[in-house]
Amino acid sequence: MDKIVVAGGPALQGEVRISGAKNAVLPILCATLLADGPVEIGNVPHLHDVLTTIKLLEGLGAGVVHDVDGARVTVDPCSVDSHVAPYELVRTMRASVLVLGPLLAKFGAAEVSLPGGCAIGARPVDLHIKALEALGAEITVEHGFIRARADRLRGGHVVFETISVGATENVLMAATLAEGTTLIDNAAREPEIVDLAECLIAMGADIRGAGTSRIEVRGVAALHAARHAVVADRIETGTFLVAAAITGGRVTATAARPETLGAVLDKLRQAGADVTIEGDAITLDMHGRRPRAVDIVTSPHPGFPTDMQAQMMALNCVAEGMGTIDETIFENRFMHVNELMRLGADIHIDGPRATVKGVARLSGAPVMATDLRASASLILAGLVAEGETTIDRIYHLDRGYEHIERKLSALGARIRRER
Ligand code: UD1
Repeated sequence: MDKIVVAGGPALQGEVRISGAKNAVLPILCATLLADGPVEIGNVPHLHDVLTTIKLLEGLGAGVVHDVDGARVTVDPCSVDSHVAPYELVRTMRASVLVLGPLLAKFGAAEVSLPGGCAIGARPVDLHIKALEALGAEITVEHGFIRARADRLRGGHVVFETISVGATENVLMAATLAEGTTLIDNAAREPEIVDLAECLIAMGADIRGAGTSRIEVRGVAALHAARHAVVADRIETGTFLVAAAITGGRVTATAARPETLGAVLDKLRQAGADVTIEGDAITLDMHGRRPRAVDIVTSPHPGFPTDMQAQMMALNCVAEGMGTIDETIFENRFMHVNELMRLGADIHIDGPRATVKGVARLSGAPVMATDLRASASLILAGLVAEGETTIDRIYHLDRGYEHIERKLSALGARIRRER
């Protein structure tokens, strides 16, 4: 199994090009099922989750051409002849549940394996189911499968009791082909929802309000072939900026979307970083200083993203002072804490709050990645730990970061992958 070995030390310097967003490309790939012709997607990151989604689409019968070097995927959904998303694929990637809405809207039937528990929390799919039922779907959950049927979905009023990114995406996709108008209230406002909506609009959908908490979708009879380029990954961007901040370095993230990172940039400035924006480039300069600890409360967009929580915790581990981190989205998203403590971090957990007291230095040790963003936090800590940190189980990392060790090496990090 692959491992990553990081040796602490150098302040990172240079430029890093940001890839397309994992959390945008996955729903967009699923949305291609809604079209009556091929959909070409550009700026596709090379990630394990993308390969899993392609497998899922091929399993449904879609024709997929993946041009890895050109970062392009073209999906032709015309040959789809199955509506079953099997356990073997859904189990490895929860986002597979995003084929539910498109399959149901386009083919009138969908069978999607329940994603089951996940390391970072229970993560049920009740909100997805309730929202699709509001559009007239008949849904049962039996033998570990969500079975959904509908002759044709009809517009409805969906009011989410809890904000959910995935459930908003599922019902948004389904509503594009429903008869009549759908109102989605308390919708998630993440930039990836806006990107999905833009792709759907390019396919002929009639959507207003994506990026706000009320989305209005007027159903159309059919969607057509289209092209769309995926938005930049704000979490990858944030991770590289924290890498610069934690090492006291200066890094410019190019091809980024600064406007999607407001809360993260605010916290980095509070930590003492100079952050400047020029077009699609963000430069973070720490001038060799030690960061100051910051307090963080995760919340839905535009709040501080839960997907950046572990990385900011790594920063707090070596910062001056004490910072609290409140995780309000997932109930079990502190699994990186024990691993960070193996590196010498001083962290105390009390329910959903972690209190981190910065230490002068961490010391390298073997650690284990437990989920995607936790893995990133361990690499970040390894960049400033004395000696070598070996991170095991990095398959989590390959699900969501494109060539992270190559990109970090180019910035001067001493990092390598061992097979
Ligand atoms: C997406 C992101 C993930 C991010 C998360 C929160 C993708 C592929 N993944 O996940 O990286 O961490 O948003 O920003 O985009 N919930 C329910 N019932 C449901 C659905 C969700 O109770 O039916 C709960 C979840 O357990 C969680 C909260 O709602 O506590 C938010 O989850 P949600 O926004 O749905 O996350 P995902 O879409 O799975």
